[in-house]
Amino acid sequence: MAIETAVESNLSTSNAHGPTPGDVIVTDNLWKTYEMGDQQVHALRGVNLRIRHNEYVAIMGPSGSGKSTLMNLIGCLDSPSQGRYWLNGHDVSELNDDELARIRNKEIGFVFQTFNLLARATSLHNVELPLIYNGTPAAARTERAKSVLESVGLGSRMMHKPNELSGGQRQRVAIARALVNKPSIILADEPTGNLDSKTGDEIMALFDELHSNGNTIVLVTHEPDIAEYAHRIITIRDGVVAGDHLSSRIRK
Ligand SMILES: Nc1ncnc2c1ncn2[C@@H]1O[C@H](COP(=O)(O)OP(=O)(O)O)[C@@H](O)[C@H]1O
Ligand SMILES: [Mg+2]
Repeated sequence: MAIETAVESNLSTSNAHGPTPGDVIVTDNLWKTYEMGDQQVHALRGVNLRIRHNEYVAIMGPSGSGKSTLMNLIGCLDSPSQGRYWLNGHDVSELNDDELARIRNKEIGFVFQTFNLLARATSLHNVELPLIYNGTPAAARTERAKSVLESVGLGSRMMHKPNELSGGQRQRVAIARALVNKPSIILADEPTGNLDSKTGDEIMALFDELHSNGNTIVLVTHEPDIAEYAHRIITIRDGVVAGDHLSSRIRK
């Protein structure tokens, strides 16, 4: 409780002075406003966040609170309307789409609820794709993709296509694809949302392993049980950070 109170009292701290060594994600007064005809929707209204290397963070909040908008900004899929975002110490808030795409490919591994795999491609090819985009030579690419598939327990499923795999196996392929570029953050939006609870727990065990291997993980979930796998839980409400505390797993 004491720790929780200390963190809560720190909630709206400005990050205007920017990143310090070891910070992977720093946002200062991040706003995102969508223009809908003559209406404006303020999806984010001044988010200040600081996430350090090898943190394991869950972002929770009700539907419409701004979670996906925040993930899109953190993942360099979109730019803020106002405020600043430093990724690994670099200000990325004013980059153009091409520059964002390059950073995204290098720094971010995405895992989605619906897996988002190429249906007609083998596991191996799906995992090789990010390496094809960044021009890794064929032999190195195949070797790297195979080794990552083995590391997520799919060594015997390399030549299977998504419809020949279970949901849990598909999500493992997606996780291997997210890892293949050795990104500085893994961003997962409801990664267990399409899985039964046993398979979901297996996927969360894999995230635990990735975290132990030194990865920085940010996951969005509306399920409290899933959020408790993380070490820190940030709650978003009406486009602002409404809570930031250690998970009960850590407080124990
Ligand atoms: N592309 C968009 N255009 C207009 N409004 C949007 C768009 N995306 C999200 N919104 C609005 O922004 C708010 C936050 O949405 P979102 O980030 O998707 O929330 P969450 O992921 O927490 O459900 C909601 O009011 C939503 O309707
Ligand atoms: Mg959402």
